[in-house]
Amino acid sequence: MTDLNTRQKDTLAAIAAADTADAVEALRVEALGKQGWISQLLKTLGKMTPEERQEQAPAIQQARAAVADAIADRKQAIDDAELDRKLATETLDLSLPAPATPKGTVHPVSQVMDELAEIFADLGFAVKTGPEVEDDWHNFTALNMDENHPARAMHDTFYFPDRDADDRAMLLRTHTSPVQIRTMMNEGAPLRIIAPGRVYRSDSDATHTPMFHQVEGLVIDKDIHLGHLKWTLETFLKAFFERDDIVLRLRPSYFPFTEPSVEVDVGFAIVKGRRVLGGSGDAPGHAWMELLGSGMVNRRVIEFAGLDPDEWQGFAFGVGVDRLAMLKYGMDDLRAFFDGDIRWLQHYGFSPYDQPTLSAGVGASS
Ligand code: PHE
Repeated sequence: MTDLNTRQKDTLAAIAAADTADAVEALRVEALGKQGWISQLLKTLGKMTPEERQEQAPAIQQARAAVADAIADRKQAIDDAELDRKLATETLDLSLPAPATPKGTVHPVSQVMDELAEIFADLGFAVKTGPEVEDDWHNFTALNMDENHPARAMHDTFYFPDRDADDRAMLLRTHTSPVQIRTMMNEGAPLRIIAPGRVYRSDSDATHTPMFHQVEGLVIDKDIHLGHLKWTLETFLKAFFERDDIVLRLRPSYFPFTEPSVEVDVGFAIVKGRRVLGGSGDAPGHAWMELLGSGMVNRRVIEFAGLDPDEWQGFAFGVGVDRLAMLKYGMDDLRAFFDGDIRWLQHYGFSPYDQPTLSAGVGASS
């Protein structure tokens, strides 16, 4: 019995003196582990007679409880001391700037589409979209290019091997013009819409990529004429390029879906190796650059879309969004737009907070 008392005392003293969690753990194993001395004593109880057991068990149980309590208390004390030490020595400076989180940028194409939507919204145009997988009726036929029309060859089209349920050839739309047809059919007239989106042609070099972006414009109403087209384009381009000296030249052209058709050129000068829009292309040091296609919507297209061409007429135009971005923000290789190079995006990209601020500009500048 005195043996037990002495060992218990020694163990408790050792626990009280232990100053690390590891030291306490070692003492626990020594006393209460599988091979620990208290565990061994507890085992011997099983081999005793009931009388012996009654006599010895209380002291052993008491030793086990005392050592277990002492270990728990000591562990707690060591943890508390560690926490106190950390609180006393470690500091957190809340005034330090937080580590930077990587921030994405808005792609120039998205930015320009937002700017276009903003400008045309001021002019009362709604934004419409249509499918990129089209059928040849919406992409060609309804735009006055029948089966054998040579204009179908004007586009190097990506066709799908299968035809749709109406036995129409399926393709990736070659322009945004089918959205004209879909909107006229769905909504009737009058209409003022723009349709920005992706288009596809089998073409690839520094100024052509197999996928690019266009924005289509369409106005259908009574008594619409070329003058409205010219004013609208001039107002749009002045607001977009943020210059009052944008000069347009309208040139007769040909598109199956417009009659008459006009190609629109803008005057520009080369300034420090860059094309800068502004001024007449006939002015000294200036030249004309072809910018977009447009015209009065062909009567047959209005008919195809289910409207009466004697009652309704209008104008349409189509222009490359990527091209507008390149001219406004000074990139020179179209392919870089679609490489997904993060450095290019960081250089040319826009902050998500950089909202187009042209909403007051259109009315003001005209
Ligand atoms: N759809 C024509 C193209 O892709 C552009 C255009 C649109 C021309 C509307 C006239 C009117 O080339």
